[in-house]
Order: sequence, then C-alpha cells, then structure tokens
Amino acid sequence: MQFPVKTDAPGKQKTACAVVPVFKGGSQTPAFTAIDRVSRGLLKKLLKNGDASADCGRCLLVPSLPGSGPSRALLVGCGPRRDFTPKRYRQVLTAAAKALKTAGLRDAICYLTSSPPDALDDYYVARHAVETTLGVYYEFTELKSKAPSDRPLTKLGLACSDRSAAQELRRGISDGVAIATGTSLARDLGNRPPNVCTPTHLAAQARALAKQHAKLRVEVLDEAAIKRLKMGAFLSVTQGAVEPPRLIVLHYRGGDANEAPVALCGKGITFDTGGISLKPPAKMDEMKFDMCGAAGVIGTMAAVAALQLPINVLAVVPACENMPSGTATRPGDIVTTMSGQTVEILNTDAEGRLILCDAMTYALKSKPRYLIDVATLTGACVIAIGNVYTGLFSNDDALADGLLAAGHRALDPAWRLPTDEEYGDSLKSNFADFANAGGREGGASVAANYLSRFVDSTPWAHLDIAGVAWKANAEKGATGRVVPLLTDFLLNL
Ligand code: BES
Ligand code: MN
Ligand code: ZN
Repeated sequence: MQFPVKTDAPGKQKTACAVVPVFKGGSQTPAFTAIDRVSRGLLKKLLKNGDASADCGRCLLVPSLPGSGPSRALLVGCGPRRDFTPKRYRQVLTAAAKALKTAGLRDAICYLTSSPPDALDDYYVARHAVETTLGVYYEFTELKSKAPSDRPLTKLGLACSDRSAAQELRRGISDGVAIATGTSLARDLGNRPPNVCTPTHLAAQARALAKQHAKLRVEVLDEAAIKRLKMGAFLSVTQGAVEPPRLIVLHYRGGDANEAPVALCGKGITFDTGGISLKPPAKMDEMKFDMCGAAGVIGTMAAVAALQLPINVLAVVPACENMPSGTATRPGDIVTTMSGQTVEILNTDAEGRLILCDAMTYALKSKPRYLIDVATLTGACVIAIGNVYTGLFSNDDALADGLLAAGHRALDPAWRLPTDEEYGDSLKSNFADFANAGGREGGASVAANYLSRFVDSTPWAHLDIAGVAWKANAEKGATGRVVPLLTDFLLNL
C-alpha cells in the first residue's frame, strides 16, 4: 500500500474516494467545505437531513459525488471537536479503513490527517493513520483453501493542510510502515496453528528475518545446547513434549560494538495445555497464542531492523510446548535454574515463568542496559485489568515511565502494577529455594515477583500481555500488541 502525502487543495484532487471528517457542532473542516462546494452542497445536505452523522465512528459512503472532484466521499463522524483525542482519532481511522475495505475501493485520500487532534504532532498523525489502516487490512488467510477475493487498497493519500508539515508526515509514514510490518509478523506468528507454529518454525522465522537485514544475526540453540547451559527450569517445561524446544537468540547491531544492548525476552510457549496441571477444555485452543510474547519480540526486531535504529538490541526467545505425558514434570518436582536457584514446581501450568527465568539469566550475561520481558503470563492479569492495558511491572521507575510514555504515544498502552516483596510471600517452599506458584490473589504480581528473583541491579520491566495479545470471539486473532509500544520506546532512546 502506498501512502503519498497530498498537499493540493481538497476539492480539486482526483480520487476514488475522499475520506472526510465530520465534526459535531460548530464549523466543519476546510476539506469538508471544499468538497461540499465542488459537489454543490451535497455533503451539507446529507448532514442536515440526517443521512450522515457526526457521531464518533459513524460512516456514510456517498457514491457518485457530483462535480469535478473526488468520485466518492466517505463521511466519517468524529464527535465534538473538543473531545477529539488521539484515541478517538484512532477509532475514526479504524472505522474509515473498515468502510473502505468493505466497499473494496482501490484508492482514496484521507482528510482526517489534515484536521487531527491538537495533542498529536504531524509525525504521529501520519504514523497512526498508516498503522491503523494496515492493521485493518491485515488478514490471515494462508490456511484457507480458497484464496479470498479481496480488493486491496493500493493507495491512500494522506492530506496535509500546510506544506511545512509534509516532511514530518513522511517520517511518520515510513516509521508507521516499519512498525506495521513488525506488528503483522507478530500477528502471523500468533495466528498460525500450534501444529505449524512450533519452536522449530519460530526459529526458522527468526532465521528468515535475519537473512533480510544485514545488522541482524541469529543463533538457534537446540535441546543439547540448552542442557549445556544448565537451563533446568526451561528443560522441565519441554520434557513432556515430543516437539523439540529451541532457544532463539537474535542480535541487532545498529550501535557501537561496545554499547550495552537492550535485551528483550519473549515467552514462546507454542501450546500451553497446562501440563500435568492440565487446563480445562474450554477455549484451550487459545493457548496457541501463548507464544505471543515471543512473537512480539520477534516483530519488534523486524521493526527495529527496518528502522535501522542506531542501538544494539538482543532478543532471547525460549520456545517449547507445555504438554502432559509420561515424561512430563510432576507437581512437586524440584529443578535447578540456570541461575543456580532451585524451584519447586507446584503447578506445571505456571510454565511461562520457568522458561523466562532461564532466558533472562542468559540475557543478563550480555550486561544489558535494560532487560524487558514480554509474556502471556497470567490469567490474573486479565482479571485485574482486562484487555485494554498491558500489565507493566518494573524494578526501575525511569524505565517504567519510559515504557508507559511509549505505550501512550503509540496508543498501545500499559498500566503499572506492583511487584513489592510481599507478593513473594506465597512462593515459600519447604524443599527448594522457592516455588513457581503461590496464592491466587494478586497472581500477576506474584508472577512478576517470581521473575524479579532472577534479575540483578539491571533496570528490568515485565510486560504481561495475557489480556491484550489476542482477541476472542468474532474477531478472534492475534493483535500484535506490544510491538508498537516496544518499538516506540526503542525509537526514543
Ligand atoms: N498462559 C497462561 C496464562 C494465560 C491464561 C494467559 C489465560 C491468557 C489467558 C499461563 O501459563 C498460566 O497458565 N498461568 C497460570 C498461573 C497459575 C497456575 C499460577 C494462570 O494464570 O492460571
Ligand atoms: Mn500455563
Ligand atoms: Zn502459559
């Protein structure tokens, strides 16, 4: 999809469809006025007689627009001007893109970008337009036997009211395309079924990505290599599975050779049955999404490499299945983690923290500037904050604030939750250093407390994406969330 910046006067531009904002009360935008004029007052008439609405997200496609301007207009309700927040902007962009997609139009010019919310600078105006549109047009069809007969949008012009903004819009467009590419990759990995998206598949995808970018290098460790590293916790999770595990390591070198990297760890459970602590059957298929932390980290690496960021980033992805079998870990088994600490596995369904703790120990060997792990870690996080915010836990206020701000700007928001030591009280074990599972109360913070035991003084953050990594029901599918947040954070370092 092409995103040319359009600086000409609105009424004159030829396009299959002009996407025009409609605000409630007060005056309309210059684009509305100009297109209304070339279409001899049709837009005002539609608004007056109630066919078009200024309610936020309401769309009306006006076919065969009279006059010499655009062939059609898509009127998009934006609500009252003073309530037009960045979030609303994104909502109306989504509504507009869905309407264009349903209509099967091939090209359009978007005039939402020439009257954006005051709080958004031109760069984000364009970035959100690009990310939203590519997100709406994303489809996962590779496993449908008949190719869908879709008519893709090939060109979306982004209107720009003053020429001085064009440069910033262009920067937002190219960054937006890079972030959308990483997000789409994360969604593809998440959506692939667990018999396709195995640890070996994730490794192959990481290899393919590294081939595309000169600054990316990949290492893939097999079970024997994981044993040599003494990752007893990771190994205890994979031991019930026939499918072989992988430790995937991606190095992005965009900074000086001696510069400390930012380390990202992503939970890559390609299917979580719970193991011997077996999950109930309802919605168990959704546990194919239990590798969305891994997908988010790999997608972020794709975005970082496309953006050619001048920093070093290390990604460590432990990938395996959590299966019940005669060789599976029993509740009560005690394992020695790579850190040397011993863990009593009281619940084999608390497996994410087991694979992550060893991956984090491994990542810390590179003395990172920051360590950030991403995981669909706890159902408790979903109960606590639902599917709006990512749960953020950190031992470092500056890092936490940086990630919160990035999530806010990227409209991929996170909310900070506590990790105080009291949340570790229920992890006491009479037989090992501590247990992998404790009380149900505050379960997301208990899990974060478990992970914190593997971190030294390195600024660390844990992102629990259990509630946001995928959508259920009619829109079932991976969201790619946390790629925009993480990429925005890395872009602003
Ligand atoms: N992958 C799950 C967490 C999860 C559950 C994410 C539902 C999204 C939706 C994780 O491995 C898990 O099973 N966690 C347990 C931990 C408990 C046993 C301490 C949980 O949340 O129940
Ligand atoms: Mn589990
Ligand atoms: Zn899990």
